[in-house]
Amino acid sequence: MMNNSKSLDSKASKHITVDLGDRSYPINIGPKQISLVDLNQYIQGGKVLIVTNDTIAPLYLESVMAGLENKNIDVVTLPDGEQFKNLDHLNSIFTKLLEQNHDRKTTLIALGGGVVGDMAGFAAASYQRGVPFIQIPTTLLAQVDSSVGGKTGVNHPLGKNMVGAFHQPAAVIIDTDTLNTLPDRQFSAGMAEVIKYGLIVDYPFFEWLETNADAIIRRDKAALSEAIERSCINKAKIVSADEKEHGIRAILNFGHTFGHAIETFQAYRGWLHGEAVAAGMAMALDLSMNAGNLSQEDVDRSNALMSFFSLPVAAPKDMTADDFMKLMYSDKKVLDGQLRLVLLRSLGQGYVSQDFAQRWIDATLAKFCRC
Ligand code: NAD
Ligand code: GLY
Repeated sequence: MMNNSKSLDSKASKHITVDLGDRSYPINIGPKQISLVDLNQYIQGGKVLIVTNDTIAPLYLESVMAGLENKNIDVVTLPDGEQFKNLDHLNSIFTKLLEQNHDRKTTLIALGGGVVGDMAGFAAASYQRGVPFIQIPTTLLAQVDSSVGGKTGVNHPLGKNMVGAFHQPAAVIIDTDTLNTLPDRQFSAGMAEVIKYGLIVDYPFFEWLETNADAIIRRDKAALSEAIERSCINKAKIVSADEKEHGIRAILNFGHTFGHAIETFQAYRGWLHGEAVAAGMAMALDLSMNAGNLSQEDVDRSNALMSFFSLPVAAPKDMTADDFMKLMYSDKKVLDGQLRLVLLRSLGQGYVSQDFAQRWIDATLAKFCRC
């Protein structure tokens, strides 16, 4: 009986490869992956440090530890929240590694959402100039975006994700059962990044999301699994083509320049990342319409899909156009003082633009912000 259900679950598993030569790695997606996937195959040495937080540890730490064989396991449990994604808390990971004599053969395991993943990944990128790490993402947002692609880092009070490194994981283990405990608001925030793929590269996926929105919001397992898989396929393709964001990868930041401005303005204690990205995408859609690329119908359809998942499609009421302009100029996409933004040529076709007219931005900011 037990074996049968295990093999059924194995069959439900999906596998995607992020193709980066000798740094290629698998993404395993499916129910019960924490117990089905043998983590030991991705661990070279005898020591492991699991980085998690105080919400996730009681839920999933024990089952991850149960899968590790003959390993000396340490754990860092971070406080939960975007406001703790900073150098101080990163340092607590280094302290644990040093106190417990972890050497270059240690492996870090990130067990949690994007905050834990970005911090554990950055610790792995920089501890003794780089050690391997494994991503076990437990939020929808982390499963469809942050655990894949090797962007790691922390926030600075003056700017979001401003200190970090590219460091690819050895594997990404997406256990879709972890979403059973994810609060609705966090689930919706993850949908912002799912919808993003439809908008920037995959119009058929956008249409599929429109058709399957009811099933997804009910967390129907098949629909959710397909949404995660299609998101990861899109992300893996883009990362494989442009690992270090010299070109096409920048389109993954659709809406993020506006979104990061919102998060920084709120000192990382206000809207969730996905919510800020949704509002940012609504602004970038408007800008794309100002550029003459999109119709009002395109914008309305996109905003309707985001609103269906209770995502904001307006800017925070207390932010002015001036607040946005100042914060957007400290974004990582500013090069040589020149603001670059991701726009849409049409639904499903994103591009990076630096030759947009200031009046298009002014018009969008005038529409979305208080004076
Ligand atoms: P998060 O990590 O803060 O997790 C959201 C909340 O859900 C937290 O309270 C967490 O403890 C809780 N949680 C996580 N898994 C749970 C589960 N299974 N059950 C119950 N509660 C659970 O937020 P997030 O949305 O996962 O990630 C946002 C972060 O990811 C931001 O810092 C953002 O900058 C970053 N990000 C990075 C990339 C990248 O490419 N590296 C991409 C997108 C976002
Ligand atoms: N989330 C943006 C990127 O991975 O490039």
